[in-house]
Amino acid sequence: MMESFERFGLIINDTVVRTPIALASMAGIVDADYALARAPHIGAAFIGGYSIDERTITAAREIARAGERKEFLYDDPVLELTTQMNRMKGSDIVLGLNLRGSAPESFGAIADALGDSVVYEIDAHCRQKPMTDAGCGEHFLSHPKELLNVVRTLKGAGVTVSVKMRAGVAADDRMLAKKLWSAGADILHVDLMDSGIAKLRQIRNSCPLMLIANNSISSFDAAKEMFSHGADLVSLARKSDKRTLAGLDAAITRYTDEQGWYNSPKQLCRGGDIRALTFCCMPVKDCPLIPTLKRIGMTKEEFLALKLGSGKNTPLEGGQHTCFGSLVWCCKMSSPCMFRDMTLQQENLTGKEYMRLKRELSDTIMGRVFHDVPHDDAG
Ligand SMILES: Cc1cc2nc3c(=O)[nH]c(=O)nc-3n(C[C@H](O)[C@H](O)[C@H](O)COP(=O)(O)O)c2cc1C
Ligand code: SF4
Ligand code: SF4
Repeated sequence: MMESFERFGLIINDTVVRTPIALASMAGIVDADYALARAPHIGAAFIGGYSIDERTITAAREIARAGERKEFLYDDPVLELTTQMNRMKGSDIVLGLNLRGSAPESFGAIADALGDSVVYEIDAHCRQKPMTDAGCGEHFLSHPKELLNVVRTLKGAGVTVSVKMRAGVAADDRMLAKKLWSAGADILHVDLMDSGIAKLRQIRNSCPLMLIANNSISSFDAAKEMFSHGADLVSLARKSDKRTLAGLDAAITRYTDEQGWYNSPKQLCRGGDIRALTFCCMPVKDCPLIPTLKRIGMTKEEFLALKLGSGKNTPLEGGQHTCFGSLVWCCKMSSPCMFRDMTLQQENLTGKEYMRLKRELSDTIMGRVFHDVPHDDAG
């Protein structure tokens, strides 16, 4: 697991994530056995969705009766979920439970009964009418106050919280992301549907939460596109066959071992998210950096001091023959540059180590940008 941490640096619910690939839930299909069968190729699994109160259990029965969709059916959700959790014991998969509940108390009661060893994922995604009529699934995206209350209730129980949502459904995804952050959510699991990377970048630029990108990600190119626009993990549901997962895992691992930073952003001027400030030049020209700094409320002087200060006494401090006199201002390794590469050679740094240092610098910048959690105004 140490190797995985050094490779990806990912921790969820105090557990190292072996690879940034998650299973996304499919009701009636993705359970503990389904996840265990794919264990060598995934880092996390969101099993479910499981209905956890009378209204949603009745809705699940109605959906199953209609015959088009499968559902997990049982009388006692605590018993069913305990059975699933016990099956996963001993596995290194980070386990999340995708839950459908119609009231904050239902989620609170489940968390009290099952404890903090799993991630609680609120299903704000399901579009099946009986579920939305029961006040869960996508209903939450048009009733964000209710969703925020569920998050607060779960956080009150001291557990890790993920919100599974579709992008482009809530009135304002950026605002929702901020509010979920301030209510205490830990993970946003976003089905990007047709909205794609622009939406992902918006959400990445709105909050520091862990982001799982979802929908039609079945190739390395698709995953890389998500990683370079802000995703920490990608998740798969329909294409979560072993062959696809194994190929994806191998390609992501190979890329990371070669490049050093598996989800490095594109440069800001090529459409990257704000993590890309780590690759930005000194703020001396008219380019996308200036409006970005304005948007995040940082002056040029603060940006200058932040980058130079963070690079001090690190190998990024050097680089007098580079454009701006220090590697802290230098570009991503994928942009060819002999001046940077000469400096790296002099400093005995590999390209991979350079990218790891840029990741650390990016983490510092993100820590500063998202230093102040917005006030949770209970709405
Ligand atoms: C049959 C089926 C059942 C699903 N059930 C759930 C569910 O219970 N909860 C949930 O959050 N998402 C559910 N989803 C949505 C998936 O987790 C995922 O967001 C969606 O399929 C897009 O990702 P994909 O392209 O990797 O399949 C379901 C999807 C399918 C196809
Ligand atoms: S500062 Fe440099 S890298 Fe950043 S947006 Fe401007 S030109 Fe691009
Ligand atoms: S020296 Fe090369 S890598 Fe560094 S800022 Fe200039 S062009 Fe980019």
